[in-house]
Amino acid sequence: RLPSSTRVFVLYLRYPSLYFNSEKVFRVKPVLDEHVTLIKDLAQSIEVDFWTPESAEQVTAGINVDIRVPAMYLDLVYTMLQQSEMEHEVLIEDVQGAVDGQADTRPSPRAHSYTKYNTWSVIESWINSIASSSANLVSTQSIGRTYEGRTMTLLKLGKKTSSQKPAIFLDCGIHAREWISPAFCQWFVNEALTTYGSDAQMTSLLDQMDVFVLPLFNVDGYHYTHTSNRMWRKTRSRNSGSSCVGTDPNRNFDAGWCTVGASRNPCSETYCGASPESEIEVKNVANFIRQNKSVIKAYLTIHSYSQLLLFPYSYTYNLSAHHNELMSIAEGASSALRSLYGTRYTSGPGAATIYLAAGGSDDWSYDLGVKYSFTFELRDTGRYGFLLPESQIKPTCEETMLAVKYIAAHVQKNL
Ligand code: ARG
Ligand code: ZN
Repeated sequence: RLPSSTRVFVLYLRYPSLYFNSEKVFRVKPVLDEHVTLIKDLAQSIEVDFWTPESAEQVTAGINVDIRVPAMYLDLVYTMLQQSEMEHEVLIEDVQGAVDGQADTRPSPRAHSYTKYNTWSVIESWINSIASSSANLVSTQSIGRTYEGRTMTLLKLGKKTSSQKPAIFLDCGIHAREWISPAFCQWFVNEALTTYGSDAQMTSLLDQMDVFVLPLFNVDGYHYTHTSNRMWRKTRSRNSGSSCVGTDPNRNFDAGWCTVGASRNPCSETYCGASPESEIEVKNVANFIRQNKSVIKAYLTIHSYSQLLLFPYSYTYNLSAHHNELMSIAEGASSALRSLYGTRYTSGPGAATIYLAAGGSDDWSYDLGVKYSFTFELRDTGRYGFLLPESQIKPTCEETMLAVKYIAAHVQKNL
């Protein structure tokens, strides 16, 4: 018989979902500098998980702060909120309930589905089967391996031609817990392949251009969210001199690296890493884009949540050289998206729209010369946050398709 603490630990390993019992997600609204200080102090003293913004460093007065609070600290947090008279609401009463409620059926089946959150092994076999069944429009290539040795497979969609075609690069799943993101990339691939030949815009897009799709960027982190910790965000690389694991891949690109909105602390959710591109996954993607920069005309990256369509810059408040054009594309794409189910998006440059955060893939690609660079933050606005139910995969992907196609049409017109 094991000592009781070991038994509890073994129980966690067998049922990692038990981990979130009685936790809540709060939305707090700091308006005074004192409030901001209080939130930062709280983050120092107890273990709170920042959902948005992603770390205490990024908290400023006037923004909404969504935090997941472990059961043992609930009383403390309530007292703090009351004493400081900080406005707040409970977004998720029962995190465990929301984790269990994401999937339509349990246990989740092993078969691939466009309306389910597929595991990495299911996604991997889906990639292989797509590649062989649609060989006329799809080819695959490995861009390298992840820290834990998994293959990063890139799909190239487009009509085969003898000459080089201009291309759009699309990636999903930079952050592990944002499950709706890889679901969108899978949806996009299917939609492209099934509407080519019937949908005029898709046909012309894939005739004229190639679309590179990286269905899952942070494979190790995503796998970890399925096996151990649903709320994991970063990569899974070890940090020398620290027992904390992982780097934020969207703080690890070489764009104002680690100057603002990122942390030098390996335990932070926004740890920028030991150096730019220290993460092998980031290096693999950056190498591919560098090697193909003459053909890549647009860079699209999918995150969640908050319903935003962002473009450079995030590492500075300075406006990009193409601000007006990017703004009008973002607004057009957002209204196309809204036309389907009324979902409202906010668009603008990252720094002014949410917060300063350096080291992002969008700013890096833009500075490399990829003019049409956009970050999507998909549904919702906090009701479920990262725990968006599977029933919302279809509508979310359908509406997002309209925005992506709007951007693609603009890119095509301006080749
Ligand atoms: N929520 C995303 C993140 O923090 C926003 C990315 C916007 N772009 C950026 N370069 N920070 O990674
Ligand atoms: Zn993200």
